[in-house]
Amino acid sequence: MTLKGVILSGGKGSRLSPITDDYPKQLLPIIGKPILFHCIDHLRKSGIKDIAIIINPETGDQIQEAVNKEDYPENISFIVQEEALGLAHAVNCAKEFIGQDDFLVLLGDNLFDKSLKSLITKFKESQSDSLILLKEVERPYDFGVADIGEDGRVKKLIEKPKTFVSNYAVVGVYLFKASIFNAIEGLNPSARGELEITDAIAKQITLGQTVQTAFLDSYWFDSGTLHGLLDANKTFLLKSEKFDNINTRIRDSYILGKVAIGSGSTIENTKIMGPVYIGKNVHIRDSIIGPFSTIADNCIIDDSELQEVVTMEQASIFNSQIVSSIIFKESTLSNTNPVINKLHK
Ligand code: DAU
Repeated sequence: MTLKGVILSGGKGSRLSPITDDYPKQLLPIIGKPILFHCIDHLRKSGIKDIAIIINPETGDQIQEAVNKEDYPENISFIVQEEALGLAHAVNCAKEFIGQDDFLVLLGDNLFDKSLKSLITKFKESQSDSLILLKEVERPYDFGVADIGEDGRVKKLIEKPKTFVSNYAVVGVYLFKASIFNAIEGLNPSARGELEITDAIAKQITLGQTVQTAFLDSYWFDSGTLHGLLDANKTFLLKSEKFDNINTRIRDSYILGKVAIGSGSTIENTKIMGPVYIGKNVHIRDSIIGPFSTIADNCIIDDSELQEVVTMEQASIFNSQIVSSIIFKESTLSNTNPVINKLHK
């Protein structure tokens, strides 16, 4: 049976306002590549060829445009979820696309390191109705949480529990048989007013269907917050291979540690302390770029100091100090007070 892929990229992204007021959070970059593209790569590596991306009516066109530009060889279609009524509602929007096939769902704002191939094999061999990926976390209250019995089976699944249930958070990776659509039918909205996929899976458990689990032992980021994004950027910079710097012009500068500089970029009278990623056609002069910074293509940085900063394409920064912040594409910062812990648009 074919396995299809669904990526949920609708929703609101309110925790990343003002950047995501009219820009999809799934397109925010991690070392120069939108989070959503990292999800598509996971599906591609697992051999999935038919993918649907759930988008919202407000920002979905930006997602379509960005994905179509990449010219992926997979069949990628887009399904509009008219209203952000919750993850179960978003999954249900793909009902026609899925038909009777099995499918893998990813959340378009989650970043993780796990080969999906082993999960797919486990799901197929166990013939379960669903498979969920769990990770032990210190603060489980912001996630779906699973209570696991002594036999290793999921006893209960609760979305954002107020009191302690367990430390096993639900990561945004799910495998389903088409029977999940029956479980979604008739769900009631949760306390936060959404149709929760967690409740649909919990319903499968009550109905005696099998919900298999797998555990994630590497990194996982729910990148829906400023610090989630900065942490993801940091981890990706640390794990990147050694960077090659070709076709760049570096003059009177001091470059220390792992630093990538894209072609066409110029660095003048500047100190860069890696790990740092600099895209193409970036021009930096008289500045200090500190560790864990990512500068996207076509940015200009002049007479400034940056540390743990992600700038999106075509940002211009003059005579400014910026720490632990994200600078939106095409924005200009000039002679500002220090910018710290900010989403700047
Ligand atoms: O990050 C993992 C957590 O993701 C899980 O532990 C939770 O069980 C799960 O409910 C989910 O919780 P969040 O509150 O973090 O979900 P969020 O609203 O951020 O949405 C996740 C993705 O789904 C995101 O890319 C937006 C998309 N989405 C969301 C909603 C509410 C949709 O496509 N449609 C929607 O209606």
